[in-house]
Amino acid sequence: MKIVFFEIFNEIQDKEKKALEKLFPNDEVSFFIERLSEENVNSVKDAEIVSVFTNSSVNKKVIDSLPKLKFINTSSTGFEHIDTDYCARKGIKVSNVPAYGSVTVAEFVFALLLNLSRKVEKANNQLRQEDNFNIDALRGFDLKGKILGVIGTGKIGKNVIKIARGFGMNVIAYDLYPDLVFAKENNFEYKSFVEVISNSDVITLHTPYTKENHHLINKENIIKMKEGVYLINTARGALIDTEALLWGLKKGIIAGAGLDVLEDERNLKEEIKILTSGKINAIKNYKTLLQDHALIDMPQVIVTPHIAFYSKEAEEEIMKVTVSNIAGFISNNPINLVK
Ligand code: NAI
Repeated sequence: MKIVFFEIFNEIQDKEKKALEKLFPNDEVSFFIERLSEENVNSVKDAEIVSVFTNSSVNKKVIDSLPKLKFINTSSTGFEHIDTDYCARKGIKVSNVPAYGSVTVAEFVFALLLNLSRKVEKANNQLRQEDNFNIDALRGFDLKGKILGVIGTGKIGKNVIKIARGFGMNVIAYDLYPDLVFAKENNFEYKSFVEVISNSDVITLHTPYTKENHHLINKENIIKMKEGVYLINTARGALIDTEALLWGLKKGIIAGAGLDVLEDERNLKEEIKILTSGKINAIKNYKTLLQDHALIDMPQVIVTPHIAFYSKEAEEEIMKVTVSNIAGFISNNPINLVK
């Protein structure tokens, strides 16, 4: 079969590529660092299996441009970048990597939070850029005793809660399907969504993105938050209404935000390419793009380029499961199918 890997990690050198090729000795394997999109799909027209990551956009047009396509692997947990309904209609199977890096992402939540609470980046910049040892602008706050509101207590949310308890934080949580046994074991309570967002000192999001929870955090509920709350988002950008977040930050309701994901981050990543390609209509939502830039520029906001998952250990796990998914499909024994 013809297998095409998109969005392969830059670290994957020839040695790893050869190892992957060896795993599929009877197949034709090729690699692209770039994402799969309408722009490059025609260069892989014969692909029967494609492997992508979250920046690829596997919509109807892309799927229709791959007439031999039988199987898609996404090396991510989320699969909203793939039109899975259309795949099902066309008999194309889709697998994901259901559980890599649950600890990895949870640890990163605290990288963002501690950076905000103890102004680590600001302190480092002040020293590096100004040789300035003045601590007046660098007073932080302790996590111990603060209330952490966790929205979504699946694999990542649960690890966040365990770490938070280690810091001595008090946890409240909301999930569509509460795990009461876990709550008892870890000494926290489930509350309603409104109770969690209005009583927390720090709110962290860990739900998948769906049409139903688009802009889960919006102006109507930011108004209900405690003044001075911190917001962490390592889940998906569109869970937050960016305009409302900017409003909340400007009003001082939200004291700071740690964001590993942004609404429309795909456009943001490719804006120079798009703006110089003569295809500026490819950007559907300039407003969000501008708002994302405003967020990146705000001193009380830390934005990282979707790296919460990206540790050595998680990457190894991703590659292992990716290979198993593809091998499973080829041997007529597909695993990790979505839906
Ligand atoms: P999971 O499937 O184990 O847990 C998700 C939890 O959210 C479940 O308990 C579910 O009941 C709950 N949930 C779903 N919709 C909800 C809603 N509207 N309100 C409240 N709870 C809701 O998923 P996991 O592994 O914990 O990952 C969560 C998300 O984190 C992923 O879907 C993905 O979007 C994101 N993620 C981000 C990464 C990054 O690098 N920034 C890496 C990996 C995942």
